[in-house]
Formats: sequence, C-alpha cells, structure tokens
Amino acid sequence: MASMALVLTVCLLSFFVPAQASPSNHNEFLRCLSTNVPSQLVQTARSTSFKQILVSSIRNARFVAPATARPPLCIVTPTNASHVQAAVRCGRRHAVRLRVRSGGHDCEGLSYRSCSPNSEAFAVIDLANLHAVRVNPQEATAWVDSGAGIGELYYHVAMAAPGLGFPASVCPTVGVGGIFSGGGIGLMMRKHGLSADNVVDATMVDAEGNLLASKKAMGDDLFWAIRGGGGGNFGIVLSWKVRLLPVPPKVTFFRVTKTMDQGAVDAVTKWQTVAPALPDDLSVRVVVQNRQANFQGLYIGNSSTVVATMASRFPELGVTGADCKEMSWVQYTAYIYFRDAIYNEPLEVLLLNRSMTLGPFFKNKSDYVKKPLTKETLEKMFLWPSGVATGQLVLEPHGGRMGGIAADDTPFPHRSSVLYNIQYVEFWNGEGTGGEVTPNWVGSLYDFMAPFVSKNPRGAYVNYRDLDIRTNKVVDGATSYESAKVWGESYFGQENFRRLAKIKRKVDADDYFRSEQSIPPLPLKQ
Ligand code: FDA
Repeated sequence: MASMALVLTVCLLSFFVPAQASPSNHNEFLRCLSTNVPSQLVQTARSTSFKQILVSSIRNARFVAPATARPPLCIVTPTNASHVQAAVRCGRRHAVRLRVRSGGHDCEGLSYRSCSPNSEAFAVIDLANLHAVRVNPQEATAWVDSGAGIGELYYHVAMAAPGLGFPASVCPTVGVGGIFSGGGIGLMMRKHGLSADNVVDATMVDAEGNLLASKKAMGDDLFWAIRGGGGGNFGIVLSWKVRLLPVPPKVTFFRVTKTMDQGAVDAVTKWQTVAPALPDDLSVRVVVQNRQANFQGLYIGNSSTVVATMASRFPELGVTGADCKEMSWVQYTAYIYFRDAIYNEPLEVLLLNRSMTLGPFFKNKSDYVKKPLTKETLEKMFLWPSGVATGQLVLEPHGGRMGGIAADDTPFPHRSSVLYNIQYVEFWNGEGTGGEVTPNWVGSLYDFMAPFVSKNPRGAYVNYRDLDIRTNKVVDGATSYESAKVWGESYFGQENFRRLAKIKRKVDADDYFRSEQSIPPLPLKQ
C-alpha cells in the first residue's frame, strides 16, 4: 500500500511543470522540505549561517558581494540521496528550481547564483557533505562522491593504492561534481584522456527525483551526457565510479621560465608543434604571465629520461636535471598547485578546506588552437594584459590519448584536430567595489584572437564557462534551442550539442534544471 502511494506521488509529480513561483509557493516549498529533510540541513536567508554557507564554496570573489542578483531561497546540504530526491520533488511541486553546487568553482558562479534580478526563485543544493571516496585497489577503481574536492580523490587513491593515479585538474580544490560533468583536463590527459573519459559508472537523482543507481538505470544516452555535457543540466550526480591508472613510484616535474629577452616568444612558437607530439608520458604546458613564459612539465617516469627527451625534442628550452624534481605522483598533485612551500609537507593539504581564503576576482575565456600561431601573434598576446587587471594565459597541449578518442565518444568534442587549449584568465583586486569594476583586457584579446583560433564554431571548454559567448533566452516559457546553439556548439560541437538537447528532451522535457547556459530540450519538430 505504502509503495502504491509512493508510485502515485511520483507519477503526479512527474507531470508537474513548474508554474510561476510566488511567495506562497516558496513557503510551501520550504514546508515540503521540512517534512523530508532535517531542519539543520536547510538554511534560509534568515538563518545565521546562511551567508557563511553560501560563501563557503565561492571561489570567484566577483560573486561574493553581488553573489546573488537574487539570493537563493535556501541552501540544502544533504547528507544522503533521499534529501536530494526530496529537494527535487519539492522543487518541482512548488515551482522552485534548483542549482547544484559541488566545489563552487563554476567560472560564472552558476552553481549558486542567477544573473538576473528578475529570474525565477531557486534553491541551492550544496553537496559539501557528500564527499566520501571509496577505493578498490584490486579492481583499480574508486567511487567518489560529487562533493569531494579533486585533491581528496588524489589523496585517498594514493593512501589506498600507491601505484595508481587519476587524470584530473591541476587545482586540488576543484569539485568532482563540476569537473567530471564538463570533462576534466590536466597534465595526465595526454596519457589517459579527460577525467570524464575514465568514468565507468555513476549514481544520480534525475529531474523527477528518482534515484538512478547505475549507468544501466540511466541508459546509454544519459550516461553519455553526464560525462562532459556540462553540469546542472540533466539531474544531480551523487557519485562517480572511476577507472584508476598505473603510476610509477616516481614522476618528474620541472619548471623553466623564460623572459621575452631570453627568447620566450620563440620558445612558445616552437612549443606549439613540439608539445602535442611529445611521447604521451610527457606533458609540457605554458603559463604566460608578466611577459614571461613558465614551462611546466610532468613526466610519468624518472628525471634522466625526461632530460634526454627534452634535449632531443626541444633543446631550446634547455631543461637540465637541476630544473627537475622527482616525487610520487600524489606529491606532484600538491606541488604543482602549492609550489615549493608544500614540498615535504603532509599530503593532507590536498583535503578540501572550505574555509580557505577566497581567491581573486577573475574572468575566464578559452579557445582551441588547430594551426600554430605566428610569432607576431604570440608576441601581441604576451604584451596584451594591461591596466589595473593582471592575468595569465594557460596553454595546455593536446595530442597523445586526447587525439585518439573520437569527438563523439563523450560530449567533449575537442579531440584529434586540436594542438592546444588556451585559457585566458584575467584577475584583479576588486575589493570595496562590490564587484562592479570589471577590467576587460581579456575581452579585447579574445576579439583579437578570433582569426587565429578554431572556427565554425569557435571552440570553448565548458568548464571554463563564459557567459559572454551567449546566454539562453526563454521564449514562451521554454529555453530557446536557437539561442543556446551559440554557446552550445562552441562547447560541444554541432552534433554533440544536438544529441545533448535530444537527451534533455527525453530526461527533462519540462526544462526543470535551467540556468543561463543550460542545455535546452530539443524542440519536437527538430
Ligand atoms: P560548481 O560546484 O560551481 O559546479 C560547476 C557546474 O557543475 C555548475 O553548473 C553546477 O551546477 C554543476 N554541478 C556541480 N555539481 C554537480 C552535480 N553533482 N551534478 C550535476 N551538476 C553539477 N578545470 C579543469 O578541467 N582542469 C583544471 O585544472 C581546472 N582548474 C581550475 C582552477 C580554478 C581555480 C577554477 C576556478 C576552475 C578550474 N577548472 C579546471 C574549471 C573547473 O573544472 C570547473 O569550474 C568545474 O565546473 C568546477 O566544478 P565544481 O564542482 O568545483 O564547481
């Protein structure tokens, strides 16, 4: 009888289409939550800890003061799947949308803010309490909850299975939920692909509030979509099963810096063709900052081999044994981010500390390069950052395994034809300005770069989310597919974007999970 009632409730809720939200809806929503989720896990704007929890995972200071053109109605911090299911069901029933946050690094803050003061009411589901990592060394797999930081995954893998590692971000604070949803790039991708390429199973709560406990329950399409199709689109992924990959006892990391006077521009000009063709075990990225190029290399092996390889493939860089540090793979994951200060420090630094000081104000953009840039173009890029803002250009080489994976294997399409990705990061100290002063060298540089980077569509990485590309338009109550195509095809390519929209129509036809850049349901006539 009880299960009949449950089925009936689920069916009734499934037919619910969010209506106009009103204050009475909001109260009903909160009441509905209160019967399903312990009160200490729901903070409304009146709660004393509301602001502290809201800010706890904000990584971009730009969104702290005006974090919330419209603040969330409440923040729910679930401790189990049933709380997430209840939030989705209550939200649908009472016309309150949800934004889901794992690590809070979304470059435009879409996991906890909506950009328009007139936008619909929403609540934040903050998965910070769901951060367990369960490693199976025999199977070389791990289950990791979405609320874990990627550093927590690295740490627990290394503790339980020292011969194994995982390819993901350079920054250990990034949340598993967001990075896996959009791909996951880092210095092991030339060897092993993206994080998302190594996800072998998952559990999620769908747009009806159902728990889908495996990829089998999701079906092939939905499982394809959640591995690179961007976060906040299809439901709330609770946990991911990943394939762990062998790492030797020691890897080698090196850094070499060149100023413009020391030939930095010539070196980067050459790097463009050398780096994507290096052996898969070796990845060398470039960070351009203050008119200098900092070459950072990871070799999955010992230093004598990498010095010899660099001497034969890229002698101009002059890598010597003195530039190299050998360490365990997990030490490297801490070292590349925290630098020398952390060498020989306990690896617990990798465990996510949500009270870590907030980063700067920043704005990101990205591009994909398929034909090497000329020396003249690179020189202009080196000289571009100016004014009150400062920033970085991060050049991440593709090739290797990235080139061997088909563009439609996952929604992430930037594969065989790509030489490297450019991340433009502008950061500044906007303290006291309420975030309103937005210097914009990054915008003018991005415009300048248009003729030289990928085109038709101009590619971008969904995890470096950029609302300037375009935001969704809602027409007659539905997100317009045509408006979304502009950003969608940049992130996913034409075919993958269409497939994502088709899957959205199948699994969330009412467009419940909706944001400024959410996948729209494919219109029926298309
Ligand atoms: P956050 O919680 O803000 O979520 C991001 C998006 O995913 C939002 O749309 C959110 O709604 C959605 N989402 C979150 N959890 C979800 C879940 N469980 N189910 C469904 N949707 C969910 N990237 C990279 O590939 N390599 C790198 O080295 C870095 N480094 C890096 C450093 C810094 C300082 C920043 C700010 C960002 C990066 N990134 C990166 C980009 C990063 O991968 C991207 O911002 C991720 O979306 C962040 O995931 P979080 O869970 O932290 O963000």
